[in-house]
Amino acid sequence: MHIKHLSLSNFRNYSTLELALSPGVNLLVGRNGQGKTNLAEAIFYSATLASHRVSGYLPLIKHHEDKAVIRLLAGFEDRENLIELELNLVGANRARINRSETSRVRDVLGLVNAVIFSPEDLDIVKRDPAQRRAFIDDLLIQMTPRLAGVFSDYDRVLRQRNTLLKTSRNLPSNSPGLDTLAAWDDSLVKLGAEIISFRQELIHKLSAPLLSAYQAIADEKNNPTIKYRSSLTANPLVDIETGEEDFLVNVDRTQIESLFRQKLSLVKPKELERGISLVGPHRDDLVLFLGEFPAKGFVSHGESWSYALALKLASAELLKAESRAGDPILILDDVFAELDSTRRSRLAELVSDNEQVIITAAVPEDVPMSLHAHRMAVTGGTVEVQNG
Ligand SMILES: Nc1ncnc2c1ncn2[C@@H]1O[C@H](COP(=O)(O)OP(=O)(O)OP(=O)(O)O)[C@@H](O)[C@H]1O
Ligand SMILES: [Mg+2]
Repeated sequence: MHIKHLSLSNFRNYSTLELALSPGVNLLVGRNGQGKTNLAEAIFYSATLASHRVSGYLPLIKHHEDKAVIRLLAGFEDRENLIELELNLVGANRARINRSETSRVRDVLGLVNAVIFSPEDLDIVKRDPAQRRAFIDDLLIQMTPRLAGVFSDYDRVLRQRNTLLKTSRNLPSNSPGLDTLAAWDDSLVKLGAEIISFRQELIHKLSAPLLSAYQAIADEKNNPTIKYRSSLTANPLVDIETGEEDFLVNVDRTQIESLFRQKLSLVKPKELERGISLVGPHRDDLVLFLGEFPAKGFVSHGESWSYALALKLASAELLKAESRAGDPILILDDVFAELDSTRRSRLAELVSDNEQVIITAAVPEDVPMSLHAHRMAVTGGTVEVQNG
């Protein structure tokens, strides 16, 4: 698929923008702080209803304004979809698809697929579990949009269960307040097991494209693999003794549910003591292995970059394989500046035949010449076309 036209109103530093984009490579060049990433973010947000750099949408509304609008015309073969998102400072956000209002904003999910590469992707490899959970969950939602509802239900149940745990902290174990907890446990287990099982399945699907993407981008032909570290199986005492971790490999939802239930009854006293939910997908992590060692804490900076790029290239490959709308839109925000010349040209080669690629750069010389097709200049929230 590709985006034919993008309109913005009061989005970040854009008051109004009308921009035609072409299939193939679109290169946005501009000095720091002019609005390149903002533009990339607007496109990515339309695909995922999430920003790649902030949580929530309020920062996307232009300062001192009360609503931002993103309007995007996406095309695939001879079909077109007009997607409009209205982000409101006060009151609910709204969405329209082909000019009719949707009942929920998340109905737009699945119409546009996009994968964004940015310097922040290094965090997936180097930083906290939250970054890796966000990576896998954002991809899951793009592949199976109805899961957006499952994630938001899980978050709500988790919040309410935590509140109840806090207020029940010092209650005796037969107190009636704890009966309600059982009902929350049921929802937590049901929704949580669904999330864990979908994550497992996705990790499995990612393995082959991840391997080939890593081989294509990295210098050393090492093998990347992903394992699922779950709070349902983690047993720190045993792990320390044997030095081996018990990763979760089960994708069967019923079995995960019963594991979840067992673990929950084990940790319940501790949960009541601490007033917080200690097990579930919100406590899980992906361990990214390179060869036999976890990437985090072991691999070099360059290898981390290759790993992060490979994760994104593999995501694009999967989205393409499973979507009826062709290639996802690839957005490369400021990545070429971070790469050495070998990786630059390898990446250029890997993305160049995607239906649409959107690249931003402060210094155009960092971007291989083969990717200079449709060039635009970004200055202070305006975009000017430089060539065809
Ligand atoms: N909500 C907002 N309202 C108004 N301006 C904003 C808002 N959010 C961000 N900005 C401004 O947008 C400007 C451009 O940001 P952006 O991240 O797109 O720059 P960039 O062109 O990608 O720069 P760099 O090359 O440094 O990455 C920044 O100066 C920032 O202050
Ligand atoms: Mg930027």
